[in-house]
Amino acid sequence: MTPLRTGIVGAGVMGMAHAAAISELGEFELAGLCDVDHEKVEAAAAKIGVPAFTDHTELVRADRLDAVLIATPHYFHPTVVEHAFANGVHVMCEKPIAVHVRDAQRMIDAHAGSGVQFGVMFQMRTNPLFRTVHELVASGALGELQRTSWIITNWYRPQAYYDMGGWRGTWKGEGGGVLINQCPHQLDLMQWICGMPVRVRAHCRLGARHDIEVEDDVT
Ligand SMILES: NC(=O)c1ccc[n+]([C@@H]2O[C@H](COP(=O)([O-])OP(=O)(O)OC[C@H]3O[C@@H](n4cnc5c(N)ncnc54)[C@H](O)[C@@H]3O)[C@@H](O)[C@H]2O)c1
Repeated sequence: MTPLRTGIVGAGVMGMAHAAAISELGEFELAGLCDVDHEKVEAAAAKIGVPAFTDHTELVRADRLDAVLIATPHYFHPTVVEHAFANGVHVMCEKPIAVHVRDAQRMIDAHAGSGVQFGVMFQMRTNPLFRTVHELVASGALGELQRTSWIITNWYRPQAYYDMGGWRGTWKGEGGGVLINQCPHQLDLMQWICGMPVRVRAHCRLGARHDIEVEDDVT
């Protein structure tokens, strides 16, 4: 099998974790790294021996790319994804797909007919625990679900996490807090296993447990 030539946009925590994972998989060939932070991307790319870019359009244009993995802060996902589709490049985008529903819908519409693959990173679905629960429910072994309760407390982030990068925990940089960043994994698992809700009622508390302006407690 010819390895998939893959570029990574966003050389931060997740981008570099993906770079390390990709380098261990024979199915992929890391073709380049892109980050708006020039020094960061030059250093990271030099370490793994791939070209560095500061503009995602140059990464896509520079060499025959098959796929791009997007690990930028949320607001940049739509632009990078849509540019990749327009250039016939497969996309794996970090969650959340976008901050605004209208952006997400535009991305889904742009994907239709593009002829490339589009995935959003919901790696929790590969966890054997959740796969087993999914299979158990889907098989009907438990009968019809009448009521489900899904409580998550172990995705708590300390204040140091929010202080780590300027975009985290802000409306302008992140577009929300725990609901847009950590919860998408839980909401995805819950609807995957239990089905879509008919009606939703929710409440959030802004900065309840951290010095941040966005929601950090959601029920
Ligand atoms: N799947 C998961 O479990 C998981 C875990 C953590 C983060 N994430 C997601 O990964 C994404 C990145 O998070 P992170 O923790 O790696 O953030 P980070 O701040 O560590 O890294 C983001 C990088 O993107 C760069 N960047 C910003 N704008 C850019 C642009 N327009 N083009 C290129 N690079 C740009 C920044 O300079 C930074 O280096 C977010 O969408 C986040 O929600 C997913």
